[in-house]
Amino acid sequence: MTVIALLMAAGSGQRFGAAQPKQYLPLLGRAVLRHAAEALLAEGRVTAIQPVCARGEEGRIAALLEGLPSLPPVTGGATRQESVRAGLEALARRAPPPEAVLVHDAARPVVPSGTIPALLAALDTHPGAIPAQPVADTLKRAEGGLIAVTVPRAGLYRAQTPQAFRFAPLLAAHRAAAEEATDDAQLLERAGATVALVPGAETNVKITFPEDLARVEAMLMTRLM
Ligand code: C5P
Repeated sequence: MTVIALLMAAGSGQRFGAAQPKQYLPLLGRAVLRHAAEALLAEGRVTAIQPVCARGEEGRIAALLEGLPSLPPVTGGATRQESVRAGLEALARRAPPPEAVLVHDAARPVVPSGTIPALLAALDTHPGAIPAQPVADTLKRAEGGLIAVTVPRAGLYRAQTPQAFRFAPLLAAHRAAAEEATDDAQLLERAGATVALVPGAETNVKITFPEDLARVEAMLMTRLM
């Protein structure tokens, strides 16, 4: 099965508050997004990486991915969904397009081993599959700083990436999307398609705030020792 991984790196990372987007920050001597690309390729199941970056960053991201099987960068859009769509349309122009696609946040430098094989195995029986972690905290819905209701957490999961899809149904779901979705699985759900869950991992951190970078750095250092 040909599998191309979209490396989503077109965000500005405003919540992080650094001078440059978080996916470009150094983590143990390599950019966060290079860690993510290497993790995607580590198990040999991904044929190539398709980077999607902000306008003007094409040269920088290509240089950071040097030496890896990476396609020419595609320019993303104002929202993550627009960026994914741009990446998918670039893949659709390939002859032939890939059979499956992984959509991964470049700000997630750790893809635990076993995640990608589990996702691709799930694609034998479902058009989509995502890694997810059960919610451990008690959840509150609040209004004006006061608890309005406690939301039962049974059956609730936190969605992670990489998310895996058969290429054709994901492209069709993106082309048909009328409203914004917060992940790609949601677009398939709306189209009535089944999306399977495989076990996620606490180590698959999305770098959002400066303390996340410090936590991942400490985790990777322990692994190296
Ligand atoms: O902002 P957030 O952390 O949710 O972004 C998740 C991923 O999507 C990041 O890796 C970011 O670079 C990417 N993204 C994108 N295009 C956008 C916004 C976010 O590729 N317009």
